[in-house]
Amino acid sequence: MPPTPPRPLLTTEAIASRVSALGTEIATGIPEGQLTVIGVLRGAFIFMADLVRAIPRPLRCDFLGVRSYGDATVSSGIVEITSDLLLPIADEHVLLVEDIVDTGLTLQYLKEILVARHPRSLRICALLSKPSRRRVDVKVDFIGFEIPDQFVVGYGLDAAQQHRALPYIGLVADGDPK
Ligand code: IMP
Ligand code: MG
Repeated sequence: MPPTPPRPLLTTEAIASRVSALGTEIATGIPEGQLTVIGVLRGAFIFMADLVRAIPRPLRCDFLGVRSYGDATVSSGIVEITSDLLLPIADEHVLLVEDIVDTGLTLQYLKEILVARHPRSLRICALLSKPSRRRVDVKVDFIGFEIPDQFVVGYGLDAAQQHRALPYIGLVADGDPK
């Protein structure tokens, strides 16, 4: 039997409409000056691609590769940088773009790393947030959607590297690998 497709939680249309609104919020919420948008790989790659096109102001794009999960669904709290930024960010307005904030451990760690490079300002945008799972109090400036404590896939997010290309955000069927 073919695997059951993930059950939709957020449709393509709902995501597109929220991303468009976020782009406007970000463009007006970050002070004038050079803006560098940093996507956290790999989960944020699709969100980042749509988001930067929704921010109506000049910006630079860069990426941080991190590994926090392996194939498990519980944050280890240990985050490894697998690929660093190419651009210097000192004196730049920086927007860090994440797919999802769960415990907050990944963001807390990335924030420390970026602050040490002396950006002019640092804001954080996450498409999704699971507030009930938070273990550290990290401020997320722009949030797409708050969702319940359920494992989601699609629109860049994976379960054991599967489902990233799904055009919506869904819940994997019980029994499928997470
Ligand atoms: P945190 O350190 O616990 O906040 O974990 C953040 C990272 O865990 C995210 O950037 C995702 O890569 C991953 N993650 C957390 N929840 C989910 C989920 O529901 N689906 C897919 N990945 C998730
Ligand atoms: Mg991530």
